[in-house]
Parts: sequence; C-alpha cells; structure tokens
Amino acid sequence: MLSAEDNDLFTRVGPGTPGGELMRRYWHPITGSAELAARKVMSVRLLCEDLVLFRDASGRLGLVEPFCAHRRVHLCTGFPVEEGLRCPYHGWTYDTTGQCVAQPGEPAGSRLKDDVKLKSYPVQELGGMVFAYLGPAPAPLLPRWDFLADEPMLRQVGYVIAPYNWAQGMENSYDAVHAEWLHGHFFKYALDQRGNPDDPRYEINAIPMMRKHSTFRYDRTEYGFIRRVVLEGESEAADTFSVGHAKIFPNITTINAGGTCVSTYQVPVDDTHTLYIGHRAYRFPDWIDVPAQTEVPWFPIPIKDEAGRWIDDDIVGQDLMVMISQGPIMDRTLEVLGTTDAGVIKYRRFYKDQAIAVREGRDPINVYRDLALNQRLELPHSKNFYDRGVFGADGRALYRRGSATGALGLQNSPINDLIEDLFEEAARKAPLIPPTAASGGR
Ligand code: FES
Ligand SMILES: [Fe+2]
Repeated sequence: MLSAEDNDLFTRVGPGTPGGELMRRYWHPITGSAELAARKVMSVRLLCEDLVLFRDASGRLGLVEPFCAHRRVHLCTGFPVEEGLRCPYHGWTYDTTGQCVAQPGEPAGSRLKDDVKLKSYPVQELGGMVFAYLGPAPAPLLPRWDFLADEPMLRQVGYVIAPYNWAQGMENSYDAVHAEWLHGHFFKYALDQRGNPDDPRYEINAIPMMRKHSTFRYDRTEYGFIRRVVLEGESEAADTFSVGHAKIFPNITTINAGGTCVSTYQVPVDDTHTLYIGHRAYRFPDWIDVPAQTEVPWFPIPIKDEAGRWIDDDIVGQDLMVMISQGPIMDRTLEVLGTTDAGVIKYRRFYKDQAIAVREGRDPINVYRDLALNQRLELPHSKNFYDRGVFGADGRALYRRGSATGALGLQNSPINDLIEDLFEEAARKAPLIPPTAASGGR
C-alpha cells in the first residue's frame, strides 16, 4: 500500500512533478521511423506535453511546441520544406530548433522572424524508433542498448496508446508471478473458451507458463534490475535464473531467448495514457542468409476484437487487459500486497530514490554521456540471442513454428511469416551439435 502522496509521486509525470522531472532525464520513443516516414508531420504527446514531430525536406528531424506563433494554427497541419516545417495558413516556417526562418507575407528585410522561436526538443532515431528528450540541457546520449544498436538484425515494433497509467505497466513487469497465472492458467482458460484443443498456443505458451515460480528475485544492476526466476522442475543453472532478464530503468523490460529480444516500453503519454511499445529484435545464426531490412515495420497492437471483447488469447493482450482494468490511475492506497509483490515494492522504492536524486541535482542511473561507452551497451542476455530452438536427441536443432511470433501482440505484423520461415530454415540447416553441448531455447 502507498500513501496518496507516494501514489502521486509514482504516477504523475507532468512538468514540475517529481516523477515528471525524473522521467525527463531519459530519452523516450514517441513513434516508429516507418510511421514518421509515411506521415512526415504528426502530433505526439509525451509526459503531458503536446508536440509536433516532423522530418523536413532536407531529412532533419524536429520536435516543436504545437501551435504556430502567428495565429496559433496547429502545426500538425503543416508541411515539410527544405528549411523546416511550414505552417499551411500563411507560410511561416520553423527550423528544427523551432526558430522561425521565413514569414513570406512580411516585407523584404523584416526582422520580425528573428524574435520568433518555438520551444523545441532533441529527437533522434535508433532501431526503428524515433526518440525524444524533454529534459534539461545538455541532453545525455541516446542509450545504444545492444538490441537497438546491433546489426545485422531484423526488427519489428507493435504499439498502442492505451488508457492506463505507465506505472501499472512497470509494476506488471516487476511482478514475475503474474506470468504463471495470467499467461498460464488464465491463458489456458481463454483457449478452452475458444474450443480448439489443437491450438498450438496450448503447448507453446499456456502450458509451459503454468509452471510454478519456485524462486523469483530482482537483483540491482548498473542499468536497473535483473529478474531471476526458477521454474518448477528446473534449477538455478537454467538461463531464466543464471542469465535472467534485464529491466532497464526507468521503463524498459526485456525478455530474451532463442534469437529474439522482446523489449517492452511503457512510455508515459500523460498521467492516464501510456504508449505501449513491443519492440522485437531477431538475430539469426550466420549459416543462413537474412535479407537486409530497409524499414522496421511499425503497426498497431489490438486491445479488443470487433465484438468488444478483450484479446485475451495473446500474451500482450492479456497484459493490456489487466493494466487497463486497474483504471486510469490505480489507487495504491487501497491495495493489499503479498509476498509475490517483492519486485513491485523494490521498483517503487528505487523509483522514489531516483526522483529524490534528481530533486537534489544529481543524475539518476542510466544517463549516459560517454560516447565510447555508449557505442554499445551490452545487457547480460546477449548470449541467448543465438540459441534458437531446442536441440533434439540427434543433435539437430528443432524449431516449433509460431514460437517467435505467436501470441505476442503481432497480429498486424507484415513480417511474421518471414521471421518464422527464417527460424525454421535456421533449425533445418543447423550444424549437428552433440546432445551434451546442446543448449535449450525459449
Ligand atoms: S497561423 Fe501559421 S502562418 Fe499564420
Ligand atoms: Fe505479462
């Protein structure tokens, strides 16, 4: 249970709030590179601030306050030109720093434009996403986590703006045991309701998830926390415990196994809406040819079906269902916590400590300013990227179609078949590995 004051600290992200000031020390993804390429100019909202994102005709990215300084037309209606973003009403033009550089209706030699400047923020692209930084200058470096920076990779990104406070998303991720129930027992129930006993998701997803978490732990690391889990029937030697899964402070969760890094971002749009981003990076073994990727797909994640029912036969759909059902801002003064909430409690305490650090004028963790260090920030999961599939008794790799892309909020992906084909091919062409040296996959 939290006090009302701590509930606010943990959830509110507007300018001037302790949480808002902490979250402003980080770069946050605001859209996909593919989305911006298609739209060129778009409205975005981040940390309770409305902004306009654009790519000008010279290829530069800009993120500025939303209204034209002239007569307040919303600049999401503007159009890109060589010098920046042009307002459609009278042609005033702003460069990527927000400086007004043209006022076509003013007389030649007019200096009026020199005094007109919109607020602007730094913006950068990496790994198929566009990131913004709304904090104090100088902006830190955009962290180059391995799953964003490494090549060659194939990537795809699902997203949805959903009506829940971002902290509910993070608590979900620091709550290991929910997987056993929501993604195990409940998943099985949701599949039972659909009445198809041959649905491969029983075997691939629901049944394995139902195993009891006999041990779960969150250890502090330099980038946040590492989640370590031992499932019933396994030991601490299993990758889920010995390697674990990285939680990158403040709002990224990674799950990595079998050639896939699934990273989930809970981006605070405002206090009651979250941009949920499921970023997938796939790394294939070097014995198959992987086509070069020119654009990372960015597509919506469905929350409900056409009949208005939760999409509860999907892991991401299940997470969204519970997070949204907690309400726009969950009232933590009313909760009753149990022993399985140790990770949630740890995360809340750490978040508060970091907010205090910022208030006292210090950098919180994960603020990078060293170019050499930031070339590649390696997470402990990296070795698992290569271990796709389970090796059979003959030492030959097996791959069960659907393991990489099924039940993961990827219903609208245009490249699921390509990913599945490549993993199947990788397993088929894998060199024989003696069974003793074989390693487990997902
Ligand atoms: S309102 Fe934008 S140029 Fe006039
Ligand atoms: Fe979950």
